Amino acid sequence: MEDEKKTLFSGMQATGNLTLGNYFGALKNWVTLSDEYNCFYCVVDEHSITVRQDPAELRRRARALLTLYIAAGLDPEKNCIYYQSHVSAHAELAWILNCYTYMGELQRMTQFKDKSSKHADNINAGLFTYPVLMAADILLFQADVVPVGIDQMQHLELTRDVAQRFNGIYGDVFTIPEAYLGKVGAKIMSLQDPAKKMSKSDENPNASIYLMDDPDTIIRKFKRAVTDSDSEVRYAPEKPGVSNLIDIYRAATGKSIEEVEREFDGKGYGDFKLAVGESVVSVLKPLQDRFAELSKDKTYIDNIIKINAERANYVATKTLRKVQKKVGFPERIR
Ligand code: TYM
Repeated sequence: MEDEKKTLFSGMQATGNLTLGNYFGALKNWVTLSDEYNCFYCVVDEHSITVRQDPAELRRRARALLTLYIAAGLDPEKNCIYYQSHVSAHAELAWILNCYTYMGELQRMTQFKDKSSKHADNINAGLFTYPVLMAADILLFQADVVPVGIDQMQHLELTRDVAQRFNGIYGDVFTIPEAYLGKVGAKIMSLQDPAKKMSKSDENPNASIYLMDDPDTIIRKFKRAVTDSDSEVRYAPEKPGVSNLIDIYRAATGKSIEEVEREFDGKGYGDFKLAVGESVVSVLKPLQDRFAELSKDKTYIDNIIKINAERANYVATKTLRKVQKKVGFPERIR
């Protein structure tokens, strides 16, 4: 029965080109978990405008992202795949939770510090309260589990703190969510600087594999990936570039560290990088083909957008009404 399953919520920003980090850190796990949970997968377009966006481009990217969720293997009839901006309860709950979140908590968020240094000309209030909107996303659906990459763990901790604070005042209103981190791929690093995470916003296109990169580009980027001056394919903290490539290969093939080390024992980095590149191509090519296929079917995608927005609205409004009542807003007269 649908209702006996626990609830899962996750989301991704419709900003920039998605990378292999987004895929292995999040999307791939979403697909793995989708049978086990009652799932809500959101395209978080409201989060995107914390950084200035071109409107037509944002709309295009949001639709592409929603299509990509399906192309990756999420069944839109079993999973609720929808746009955040189609469910006004997100913004309404975020306002309420803003009043239960401390400035000091938000000031500690590393993503805020990073983003405000990158966008020094536009440090807006939305960028600051961004984690509260994320908390609202999760808590609206009473999510038990939230699959994310490591970079979102701090936001998830904040979500738990705010939910516990709220429950402490008003009783058990919110389910306290747990993060789900995949065993491998929870932090994919840049191919050009393995000290930095692979990011959509990296200025160097060789640092990231984009999900829509063609096979030649993928292979070329892996050939150029930064490694080190010896030639041993070994997983070790002092070999961050090679370890990152091993992680990518493991995520793409399901092999263990030992298996990978054995496979490339006595072989050079050239062979290894080519194998990593090919393994990624074999993951991304089917995804790209399915994406191209789905993108042609406007009516099908439109229908999913409509039906799922209704489903999400129904569930979200239930929580919102409960919260509004708890904090003391007047009842609606019917
Ligand atoms: P976003 O859009 O930056 O990233 C989407 C997901 O991809 C993961 N990720 C990575 N995982 C491994 N290695 C990497 N290099 C890497 N880069 C990104 C992220 O951890 C994330 O899981 N604030 C969120 C979106 C969001 C959200 C939510 C997530 C809004 N509301 C509610 C979960 C629940 C964000 O900006 O993710």
